[in-house]
Amino acid sequence: MNQYAVVTAEEAYQSRDGVIKLHGEEGFAGMRAAGRLAAEILDALVPHVVPGVTTQEIDDIVREMTIRAGGVPATLGYRGYTHSCCTSINHVICHGIPSDKKLRDGDIVNIDVTPIIDGWHGDTSRMYLVGDVPVKAKRLVEVTYECLMLGIEQAKPGNRIGDIAHAIQSHAEGHRYSVVREFCGHGLGRLFHDAPEVVHAGKPGTGPLLKPGMIFTIEPMINIGKPHGKVLEDGWTAVTRDRSLSAQFEHSIGITEDGCEIFTASPKGLDKPPY
Ligand code: MF3
Ligand code: CO
Ligand code: CO
Repeated sequence: MNQYAVVTAEEAYQSRDGVIKLHGEEGFAGMRAAGRLAAEILDALVPHVVPGVTTQEIDDIVREMTIRAGGVPATLGYRGYTHSCCTSINHVICHGIPSDKKLRDGDIVNIDVTPIIDGWHGDTSRMYLVGDVPVKAKRLVEVTYECLMLGIEQAKPGNRIGDIAHAIQSHAEGHRYSVVREFCGHGLGRLFHDAPEVVHAGKPGTGPLLKPGMIFTIEPMINIGKPHGKVLEDGWTAVTRDRSLSAQFEHSIGITEDGCEIFTASPKGLDKPPY
């Protein structure tokens, strides 16, 4: 049995282990503003994600845009993380750390940002194609985007987290890809990572029931090869064990009376491949 609690915007700061928060209109308004900035940052990065740019240069743009808009990057100082975004290239599943490494023609890279505005977190990521990308990699990126959107279609009152998970898993495995199990989507709001845990593989009709007011991310990580990952010595970078390519898309959403609202949709329509 999962517990739920209707919370005011003030109470949304509290961590209540395992309890799923049901946010009100103030929370949705806060998430709309944070989500919009997050999507605008990812839109603004498009012309910069080209061969020769370093992932640190991308991080600098993310930090400056966030601060200029009156926000703070949630990842800066988060559990010892010292950057404003994650940049996960090719076989990196997630949490790639920006560095002096240059992007190369043919790379695929996920950029994941989480600006905080008025205490609310807008968490979103997309894949970017660097120069000329092989068809095999492009196809992975397209199918991963489809996985996210098929998951979002299941995000409505009366469904369960397992319905989202099942939609994602069946689509990925139908293309002979695999779903990463070590990392999940998560509740968020005034907390960066909150209940519930949003798994990306599972059975229909299982897991927490979705109710209006829930706010969480869906962020499937899909591999061409096996699902298994490992974290490198730096303590953050998660890579596929078999070094196969991995892709990810993430949106922050809120459950409404009849479906869901996507807080991090691109104002310019740049969040979906082909670009
Ligand atoms: N934005 C990531 C997520 O989707 C979390 C990154 S935490 C960091 O949940 F410290 F690695 F940046
Ligand atoms: Co997230
Ligand atoms: Co994220």
